[in-house]
Formats: sequence, C-alpha cells, structure tokens
Amino acid sequence: MTATIKHYLQFSDLSADEYAYLLQRAARLKQKFKRYENHKSLTDHTLAMIFEKASTRTRVSFEAGMYQLGGSVVHLTTGDSQLGRSEPIEDSARVISRMVDLVMIRTYEQSKLEKFAEHSRVPVINGLTNEFHPCQILADIFTFIEHRGAIKGKTVAWVGDGNNMANTWLQAAQLLDFKLHVSAPRGYELDEKLALGSSADPAHFQTFANPLDACRGAHLVTTDVWTSMGYEEENAQRLAAFADWKVDQRMMAVAQPDALFMHCLPAHRGEEVDAEVIDGPQSVVWDEAENRMHVQKALMEYLMLGRRED
Ligand code: CP
Ligand code: NVA
Repeated sequence: MTATIKHYLQFSDLSADEYAYLLQRAARLKQKFKRYENHKSLTDHTLAMIFEKASTRTRVSFEAGMYQLGGSVVHLTTGDSQLGRSEPIEDSARVISRMVDLVMIRTYEQSKLEKFAEHSRVPVINGLTNEFHPCQILADIFTFIEHRGAIKGKTVAWVGDGNNMANTWLQAAQLLDFKLHVSAPRGYELDEKLALGSSADPAHFQTFANPLDACRGAHLVTTDVWTSMGYEEENAQRLAAFADWKVDQRMMAVAQPDALFMHCLPAHRGEEVDAEVIDGPQSVVWDEAENRMHVQKALMEYLMLGRRED
C-alpha cells in the first residue's frame, strides 16, 4: 500500500523535471503571498511536524505555509510525545499517518526517517537529518535563481563542514547540472558515497585543500555552522579544526564579482563567517530563510495532492 507514496527524504527523490515544476510553482505562490491573494489549496488537510532537534525557520515556514494554504498543523517534539519514551518509530508512523495527510520530520539518523516513511500511509518530508537537508537546498536554489537566473552550469563553493547541507548540495549539483567546489578541513570532508551512493562525477564536484581556491570564480559562496546539531560534544575540537575555513572578504573577492553569499542559518558571526560578509551586500540569507516557506508550500501541495497545479 505504501509503495506508491511519494516521499521527500533526500534531494535525489525528485527529478529535474519535478524541480523545474516546483521552482516555478513556488515563484507563483510567492507572488500570490506578496499580493495578499488567498490560495487555499490544502483546506481540510493536516500536516504533522515532528521535531527531535531544535528549529526556528523549519517550524515557522512549514506551519505558516500550511495555514496559508488553508490546512492545519500538529506539532510534536520528543519531549512532549511518546517518541521520547521509546515508542517504536514504526508504531508512531502507523498511528500518526492514519490521522494526517503529510508528515515532516526533523531527526538524527536518516535511517530513522526512512523507517518512519516505510510504515507511513502518507508522504513524509525530511525537515533535516544528520545526513541531509533537502528543503533548505531547494530554497537556496530558488533564491539563487531569483537573484541570478538559471543555476545550470554555475559553480557553488561550499566552505567548511562536509555535513548534511554539503551532502545535499552534492545531490543537487548532480541532478541540476551545476558544479560544487568543496573545501573542508581534513577529517570533515564530504562523503560522496553517502550522498550519491557512488563517486561523484568530476564535472559536478571538485575538492580543494585551500578554501580560497574553492571560492575562485564561484557564482555562490556558502557555508554553515562548524558544529551541527547532535555533534555538540565535538565543539571545542571543531572550533580549532575549522579556524581557517571562516568565509571572509578575501574569499568573496576571488569569487565572481556578482557572487552571492548564502548560509542556511542560524549563523555564528566571527566563526564560520565574518559579519561583513553575512551582513554585506552579497548576502541573501534573509531571502533564503523566507523562501523556505514558498518552496515548501509548493512541495506540500505536490506531495499531498499528488498532482501539478496551474
Ligand atoms: N535553516 C534551518 O533549517 O533553520 P532552523 O534550524 O531554524 O529550522
Ligand atoms: N548543519 C546544521 C544545519 C542547521 C539548520 C545542523 O544540522 O545543525
């Protein structure tokens, strides 16, 4: 029964054609939102959001987006549900998915999300795992296109941890035909096999020991926290290891003159990025955050209604 359900567990779950539709649909929904036009395509539909890690943007963007589409939201955390008292994930999936139309989960291991999806009667969306953050990359690509046009053929420089964001950028580069440059300290490199199941195609992926070299000629420079959620006990050693991977004006200066800067947020000014970069004219971080809502509205419609809207 669950075999035909379309989930969004990683970026590679959708095709380039589906992304072309979603990006155009998100632009349409954003335009309606800006014009205060009602668009209630999900009336009588309910989204359950399960958070096992903290969130600001993901919670607000899904919740506000769902209300704007006429639907309702149930918000669960580990602390206030039986998830935190070791009810099996399979049982939680069976129960929750009998009552709602869509589930968004933020958790630790990707395998936990996959287990939930396997036992769910309704589509499941990855709201961030240790391995992937597909909704964020969808918003980032939408934001790039809004500011600079097509991303195909462009170069994105990732500076810092080879984490869930980096893995997802690699999937996106492969699928949407752009190039990802990555520079990470030794021991924190991106795991190509985890992201792609195989080695990456050199046309879409190149690594650099020096972050300045990764940024050279890039159309977009992007980074993330040095210590992701779930890795807090490594914080001191990460601060030391990443000291040379702070995005600063030197890195922006070797990128394209009109290069953008992105960060999924929350950010630590003075750690992974200098204030003059994140608060400077090339930064589009606030658009990135807002666009989470617009792209996720398109995604929720697509998964819940199971069809493309005009
Ligand atoms: N970027 C992002 O996912 O933010 P939150 O952790 O606040 O949801
Ligand atoms: N890589 C970060 C992203 C936060 C939105 C984390 O997983 O904590």
